[in-house]
Amino acid sequence: MIAAAPPPTGYDTPAAAKSDPLFHLFTKYSGGLAACREGGSAPCPHSLLFPRPPLSAHYARDRNKTGAGMTHDDLPVPRDNPIVLRAALRLGDALADLDAALAEQARLRRKIDDILRQANPLLTPLDPNRNGPAERARIRALTLRHTTLQKSLDKATQAETLARQRFEACRADYADAFDRHSIAQADLHATLRQSHRNAAAIERSLLHLFETEWAATADGLPDTSFDMPQGSYSYIPLAIQRYLSMLCELDMQLSNDPAYAAEDDQRYRPVSFVEVGCGPGRNVIIAQSCGLCRFSRVSGFDIDSAAIDIGRHAFGLAPDLTVADAMTFDYGVYDVVFSFRPFSSDRMQGQLEAHIAATMRPGGYLLAPLSHDLGRYPALIPVDRSYDIWKKIA
Ligand SMILES: C[S@@+](CC[C@H](N)C(=O)[O-])C[C@H]1O[C@@H](n2cnc3c(N)ncnc32)[C@H](O)[C@@H]1O
Repeated sequence: MIAAAPPPTGYDTPAAAKSDPLFHLFTKYSGGLAACREGGSAPCPHSLLFPRPPLSAHYARDRNKTGAGMTHDDLPVPRDNPIVLRAALRLGDALADLDAALAEQARLRRKIDDILRQANPLLTPLDPNRNGPAERARIRALTLRHTTLQKSLDKATQAETLARQRFEACRADYADAFDRHSIAQADLHATLRQSHRNAAAIERSLLHLFETEWAATADGLPDTSFDMPQGSYSYIPLAIQRYLSMLCELDMQLSNDPAYAAEDDQRYRPVSFVEVGCGPGRNVIIAQSCGLCRFSRVSGFDIDSAAIDIGRHAFGLAPDLTVADAMTFDYGVYDVVFSFRPFSSDRMQGQLEAHIAATMRPGGYLLAPLSHDLGRYPALIPVDRSYDIWKKIA
């Protein structure tokens, strides 16, 4: 049995008591409070006065929802895709706004909890002496404060709803942008795989054509034997794809180099090109015909006189191919020197690099895949990430 609540004291008249809304609160909930005390199931006055879900559960749910592995730094962002990057930045901002809104709610709820803690003993009508004017004034003040805080909390809840809507919209935008990016990436990789295979197929066909022509030409020449000096590589052609990539990079460098500014409406002035150890001249023909760079003249030389002979006869390269020794060649008259590792001996390769670095013209470019140690020459600076292309600066 629940004991009847004692009448509130501290009112001048019964009418004054009845006109005070707090009196009704007292009488309405004091039974519930007593039941709580006695282990009954009646609802606690706190929850009846200020019904709301418990803060911790509410906040935990929100944190899980927004924060599930998702801080701004954790977002997978392909930095080279500005659309995804922008979407990620917007999502990061929305996440920060939502976190701020939730933090504000939490702050207000803590304050309300505090008021409820203070009000709790005052709402307990077990001690009639505690329900005097001072207690009622205090309860009134707490109620007023509670009302104000509740209004702020309502506003904060609205702000949270808006922030959550914006967050959800941004999250959907980001997911959409990322999906598009992933699909585009998959397409790109498929295209790259395809073009890589195409390039390899073209390279095989081209090599076949060259080799067939060289073999046929060699058959008609009186002497095609040559004894390669010790420490030199014989003819091992660089992969055509790598060669073309270097020419593309060179084209970009020349376009951006003021020293090569064109006097006509082209991106740079025509440049002269020489290949060290050109063999029968495959790369010379490619550079002359591919149109990747603006060359004034493409030429090559090799110590292997038989290879030069074949190249001159097979493709009419007589004016462009000469027999010469790389160690004594004068590189100073060319804008671009291409040298793919003529020497197997590191010592000889090092000597060649010293000679090229010393005799190249200032401002000239050196294309040198698999070089030995070009970094030792202060006048040479690498201009590409693979350290294949160098520029002589002084
Ligand atoms: C690795 S192959 C490079 C072939 C071609 N430059 C390319 O990149 O496809 C080296 C070439 O250097 C030539 N070579 C070797 N020693 C040389 C030297 N002292 N002077 C000129 N050429 C040389 C060889 O005959 C051979 O053709």
